[in-house]
Amino acid sequence: MRPKFEQYADYQPETFEFSDKKAVEEIISRYPAYGKKSAVMPLLDLAQRQVAKHGPYGPYKDGGGWIPRAAMDKIAEIIEQPKIKVYEVATFYSMYKLAPVGKFLIQLCTTTPCWLCGSSGLLKVCEEFCGVHPGETSEDGLFTLEEVECLGACVNAPMAQINDDYYEDLTPDIFKDVLQALKDGKEVPIGSQTGRKGSMAQNGPTSMADKAKELGVI
Ligand code: FES
Repeated sequence: MRPKFEQYADYQPETFEFSDKKAVEEIISRYPAYGKKSAVMPLLDLAQRQVAKHGPYGPYKDGGGWIPRAAMDKIAEIIEQPKIKVYEVATFYSMYKLAPVGKFLIQLCTTTPCWLCGSSGLLKVCEEFCGVHPGETSEDGLFTLEEVECLGACVNAPMAQINDDYYEDLTPDIFKDVLQALKDGKEVPIGSQTGRKGSMAQNGPTSMADKAKELGVI
């Protein structure tokens, strides 16, 4: 799913101000004065997180983070660049959402390793439990589903990223429980859902077991 850049959508706020000015200053301070424009990506991220926390603008009461056009314009002003330079970056990277999303953005990996390990079953859970197909947001505004390519956690496939966190070693039943817990506002452990440590073999380490013990991994 790539939400459209709906520049004139009526949920777009007229103006945007960063609420955490110190965070903006800290980001700008990471770069030399002549390279201020390099701050564009962390500032876009900051804007997206601000909307998630203090927003929302748009149709979902408790929606997730996205970047209104006014925020991009504000960033252009801060980094002293033409607005188009910010639009170019924001529209290129899929991690920036340009239209409202649900409170929980599910990025379900369906690339070959995850698919071989059962991602189709997880997709079905999303469709049945959340009532969404890829690219859609549930009626209650809680879940947005995206089908994505490999997220680099294939060894613990199948997996999904929900907001900032990875949920791995999923089965349809486990995934349903994770979604239910999120819906109920409960804490859900992140990472492997079967208790596997890191990316070691399911039955424990196959080499360097002594070292793993020494480091307290097992
Ligand atoms: S294929 Fe799913 S994380 Fe790599």
